[in-house]
Amino acid sequence: MKFSAESMMRQMEENGFVFSSTQQMSKGKYLSFDAEWNYTDMPHLNEIHELTEAVQGAIEDDYVASVLIQKVGPFTVPLTMFTCAISRFENFHFSSFGPYVVLIRTKWSTEINCTTVFTDYFLGSKRFLKWSHHYVHRLLAQNYRVLMAKDVPMRMRRGQLRSKNYGFVGDAIGYGFLDSMNLVKFGVVNPYDLAPCSWSSPIDAISQGTTLVGSSDSSGVRLVRQNDVLQVFPRICMHAGASLDLARIENSCVACPWHGKLIRPIITISLAEGARSCESKGIKIEIKDSIVFVTGAYEV
Ligand code: FES
Ligand SMILES: [Fe+2]
Repeated sequence: MKFSAESMMRQMEENGFVFSSTQQMSKGKYLSFDAEWNYTDMPHLNEIHELTEAVQGAIEDDYVASVLIQKVGPFTVPLTMFTCAISRFENFHFSSFGPYVVLIRTKWSTEINCTTVFTDYFLGSKRFLKWSHHYVHRLLAQNYRVLMAKDVPMRMRRGQLRSKNYGFVGDAIGYGFLDSMNLVKFGVVNPYDLAPCSWSSPIDAISQGTTLVGSSDSSGVRLVRQNDVLQVFPRICMHAGASLDLARIENSCVACPWHGKLIRPIITISLAEGARSCESKGIKIEIKDSIVFVTGAYEV
């Protein structure tokens, strides 16, 4: 059984607590599924949010209990946080720190491809500390802005992919906290009208480092040249849709910026060994007369 924020507040008021509330709002061109995905996605906390590390103590698809190791200026503050999914459009978190309790209710809804998310912070303490609520709410608002600076672009990226007819597996079955820990699965579905890329360049004109071919999704690839070795990487992570265009290279893999998964090259080919061709996962590389041809679309 799950209790609402109001029910918890009532129980705390009976114990002499007083509450104040503030509301934050964010908005963007993505669907409510993307907000649901973002709010149930645990692994991004440790990759995307530099000021937060989450250590899970218990997790199921509809709830998670964790210790958040939160950096506040020069300090590190551990916060026990309980989060549960009330529905596919609402999450509820609660925590306490020192003499304060904070209940956080997040709700989202979509109108014509634009999703609005409302986050209500209910802050409680004994009455003699009521004067300080204003300052704590300011800290919570600041923390919200820091979180949204990273979260909203993730949702927007999925919104952009949707505008090109990409689909997401979790839309139909729902997103879950436990399920979010599985980085192996492919959550992105290529569009039915996926367009192949077609690109060519003389070997000498391919610069060292990264060259981006096609678009930042399955209709493109990221070439990484190191001396005479050319690696071909995807530009999209099929786990949840991150762009890999700027992802750092680590041990000959790209490290996905959203959840840290290491993604191997689709193809590795030598530019120094004359005419040859290679094909993998829908992408074809051909070297003919010192020209490199890249064609196809990335399919897993
Ligand atoms: S989007 Fe999750 S690992 Fe890349
Ligand atoms: Fe986040």
